[in-house]
Amino acid sequence: MIQHDTVTPEQVEAGQAVYTERLLKWYDFIVLQVSNRWIWKCPTTKLLAWYNQHVTANHLDVGVGSGYFPDHCMFPADSPRVALMDLNQTALDYAAKRIARYAPATYQRNVLEPVAFSDEKFDSIAVNYLLHCVPGTMVSKAAVFDSLKPLLNPGGVLFGATLLQGGVKRGLLARCLMSHYNRKGIFCNGQDNLSDLEAALKDRFQDVTIEIVGAVALFSGRA
Ligand SMILES: C[S@@+](CC[C@H](N)C(=O)[O-])C[C@H]1O[C@@H](n2cnc3c(N)ncnc32)[C@H](O)[C@@H]1O
Repeated sequence: MIQHDTVTPEQVEAGQAVYTERLLKWYDFIVLQVSNRWIWKCPTTKLLAWYNQHVTANHLDVGVGSGYFPDHCMFPADSPRVALMDLNQTALDYAAKRIARYAPATYQRNVLEPVAFSDEKFDSIAVNYLLHCVPGTMVSKAAVFDSLKPLLNPGGVLFGATLLQGGVKRGLLARCLMSHYNRKGIFCNGQDNLSDLEAALKDRFQDVTIEIVGAVALFSGRA
């Protein structure tokens, strides 16, 4: 599928519109239990370990989905500051309810654009499974990094994971399901590859690390 760098509002809308309350109730089972292990070949335990390795007690989760990761991760403090950011208010409400014990602040923002933000900055920001949902090529969707980097304290870490098409191993099922999701506009990762991801991160962050597991790139970088 050919993707152009011109991103339309309809494409941005499609990347988040699927996350209705009904889908969010099934998200953990469909994506985190089944797809991650059997199709993308990167079990959720691996993603959670990556999250635990980088999360701090002053944390922002972006592209929250069902809120599984801030719910299950181990914050290195009893009362962490946890905030949630997403374009989709339903996902924000769903995730905020799930982690109500942390009294999270919520921010409805499109992170492909500069983010209006005047609160205290964060020591860690997670963007798990966000990049493959937003439209554009890896070059243009790196706007997400430009939008979020100003929200990090010096030395703070941005980390996450994304499904790639180039530079990773994809089985037949993975190729078929990715094509299907791209046709539906749920994913937009037709041109996402490892070298562009690495370049986008290294252009903006220090100490960049990337690990490939199945069709997933797990990554991190420091401000
Ligand atoms: C696949 S879910 C990821 C859920 C969760 N982080 C996980 O790893 O299970 C993608 C999330 O990104 C959000 N999203 C998509 N486009 C966005 C945008 N332009 N700005 C902010 N959030 C967006 C969606 O609403 C959805 O909650």
